[in-house]
Amino acid sequence: MSQLLAAAHPPASSRPATDWWREAVIYQVYPRSFADADGDGMGDLPGITSRLPYLRDLGVDAVWLSPFYASPQADAGYDVADYRVVDPMFGTLDDAVVLIGAAHRLGLRILVDLVPNHCSDQHAWFQQALREGPASRIRERFHFRDGKGKHGELPPNDWESVFGGPAWTRTKNPDGTPGQWYLHLFAPQQPDFNWKHLAVRDEFRSILRFWLDLGVDGFRIDVAHGLVKADGLPDLGDHERLKLLGNDAGPCFDQDGVHEIYRDWHTIFAEYDGERIGVAEAWAPTLERTANYVRPDELHQAFNFQYLATAWQAQPLRDVIEGTLRAMRPVGAPATWVLSNHDVTRHATRFANPPGLGTQIREAGDRELGLRRARAATLLMLALPGSAYIYQGEELGLPDVTDLPDEVRQDPAYFRGAGQDGFRDGCRVPIPWSGTRAPYGFNSVEDGPSWLPQPDTWAALSVEAQTGDPDSTLEMYRSALALRRDHPALGGADNLRRLPSPDGVLVFERTTDDGPAFLCTVNVTDAPVTLPTPGRLLMASDRVTAGDTHTVQPADTTAWWTTA
Ligand code: GLC
Repeated sequence: MSQLLAAAHPPASSRPATDWWREAVIYQVYPRSFADADGDGMGDLPGITSRLPYLRDLGVDAVWLSPFYASPQADAGYDVADYRVVDPMFGTLDDAVVLIGAAHRLGLRILVDLVPNHCSDQHAWFQQALREGPASRIRERFHFRDGKGKHGELPPNDWESVFGGPAWTRTKNPDGTPGQWYLHLFAPQQPDFNWKHLAVRDEFRSILRFWLDLGVDGFRIDVAHGLVKADGLPDLGDHERLKLLGNDAGPCFDQDGVHEIYRDWHTIFAEYDGERIGVAEAWAPTLERTANYVRPDELHQAFNFQYLATAWQAQPLRDVIEGTLRAMRPVGAPATWVLSNHDVTRHATRFANPPGLGTQIREAGDRELGLRRARAATLLMLALPGSAYIYQGEELGLPDVTDLPDEVRQDPAYFRGAGQDGFRDGCRVPIPWSGTRAPYGFNSVEDGPSWLPQPDTWAALSVEAQTGDPDSTLEMYRSALALRRDHPALGGADNLRRLPSPDGVLVFERTTDDGPAFLCTVNVTDAPVTLPTPGRLLMASDRVTAGDTHTVQPADTTAWWTTA
């Protein structure tokens, strides 16, 4: 047990000791698919630990780990059966402590995923609630209700699961007769907690403390906008089903009552040294509603899904960037930026397709175009004030795997949605590290397994193949992250100023009192543009040759400049 003592908290690497998170670049590791130390085809914690030096060298500040807790894996670990236990498929609690300690020694912070909206149907409370029948007090910790209709055969209200189908499943009584229904905004294996119940609140306070005591630097909070439901669980009625409407997310999401929980958690984070943080996964209907989650006494960051969902088009990009900065200003929270994660089609594939297809796409599209735009979009994102999120593999320019055979798919939404939706497996394929054949160093077994098959074409995309090649996407990320750390004007939280530019082109500068200015030019059109050369070229997402007075910037490129 000695290893389970709190891992020493790290000094911030080369960042100032305060507010490390305000400009942090945070790298999302999807544990199933990052690195597989034991060769069973499933990534694991020792695998992640072994690859931490790669992340330090990449130049990120922190690592967010998707769930690795005890789970039947009905939703790839977002169905947690025990919040204090590491699932054996990922390792042990000791492995988690070793990982946290190793990260801290390398100057990397660790965020873990917290899943408070729902648990697994195998969670001890839910099992007890089923076992004890309708009279069980434990049922109050979930949303159990009698059904409507003469025999209770109809669901208690008209809510639908995000994954498709009704948000209610009927239980069987201990004697085998049909019983009450329970609410699950996601899969039936993910019963929603009742956050009005004090035992639920106490339990999560204790879970937070458990991981904070082990040394984690913070939490990404899953479905942070879902914990509190409208009183009485009213029908959706005229609301377009579970879709965000204007400023109103409907009765299931983004209820004002949820903020009390985050104010409570804020005080827990504040008890610990080292600036521990909470990051909201809140799909709120507007940026203004998103900003509520990061008021000074609540969480620290919220994902900017409006940015993620913006097409590669100049005006929408300009609007979302300015809208984000405007929305965050009154609450004093940093803007965040994200292009990819484990729930959406990778941006190299989204941008390979026409706009308007949403964030889950099954078409490969024009790969070359997609990669060119993805590289430009990345340099734009990393030039913006605030904190940026990188999803594992995007630094390799990975596309989604759009042609996975149906029999290997695991996304529960794929099956609930009758194949209409739920293409999240495509962004979850294990990443290529080295070698010419699968599993490309994901594990070290020759022709070893991987839980989702990797394409034959990925040899050229591996870390090994791209390292040292100045034109590679990996080296572009490394250079950009190094420049981002070094350039004094890239540190300012809200110092962006838009400059005049031709149609389809974004030009902005970032300034600081005591150093050179930084400039970013983005050609979002499909043709070259000629721009006045704004300074000394630092780097670009594609070939840009700076002339003395004018520079021709190719289609779909971003360039970084300095006045130094
Ligand atoms: C979040 C997760 C997603 C999961 C869902 C239910 O949106 O990011 O992967 O399926 O919550 O937990």
